[in-house]
Amino acid sequence: MKIFLDTADIEEIRTAASWGILEGVTTNPSLYAKAGGGSYESILTEICKITPGPVSAEVVAEDVEGMLKEGRAFAKLASNIYVKVPMSEPGLQAMARFKAEGIKTNCTLIFSANQGLLAAKAGASLISPFVGRLDDINQDGMTVIRELAEIFAIHDLKAEVLAASMRHPLHVTQAALAGAHIATIPLKVLKQMVRHPLTDSGIATFRADWEKARRA
Ligand code: E4P
Repeated sequence: MKIFLDTADIEEIRTAASWGILEGVTTNPSLYAKAGGGSYESILTEICKITPGPVSAEVVAEDVEGMLKEGRAFAKLASNIYVKVPMSEPGLQAMARFKAEGIKTNCTLIFSANQGLLAAKAGASLISPFVGRLDDINQDGMTVIRELAEIFAIHDLKAEVLAASMRHPLHVTQAALAGAHIATIPLKVLKQMVRHPLTDSGIATFRADWEKARRA
């Protein structure tokens, strides 16, 4: 399972890249606002330089022509841009048109296996079910990941399942076991994944024993 960072914050992306684990980045309008706004194009260009893999840039238009205009402009910024398009009838049409133009897409706001299947058929390369937001309304978000991973394998569909809306480390483990090809993870959760109390206490004990032995 590939690891993407779910952020539009350049410093967070530099941190994950420095760990050697970064394989892509997903942004969305809310993450862009959280990172402080400014020129979305400049931020995307910078992210694309740091990131060794796909960088998702989300359209906000809700009509086909508007999505195409925004997406084509994003695609000109860098070769690793994936245009993020919300699931909808115009979204499906836009993704089919982007595919015909050779522009890669990530279909976002997926909440059911059927939505994911349609997005894959329309030509999206990445399919993003939102696990945490389903869990929030008392539905098992991981079921959609498992179903889509199975459907794509059975029918040899090339689209990749990108587990999004990852809220805690257990989501990441569960997404990997459910067959997600990619998980997009906030830096806070990545940092939680690094830590274990026995690792911390083990490091402290090794340090103390080392110093005791050196003094002997
Ligand atoms: C990523 O592609 C999604 O936009 C993101 O994971 C959504 O996360 P949230 O549900 O925590 O906002």
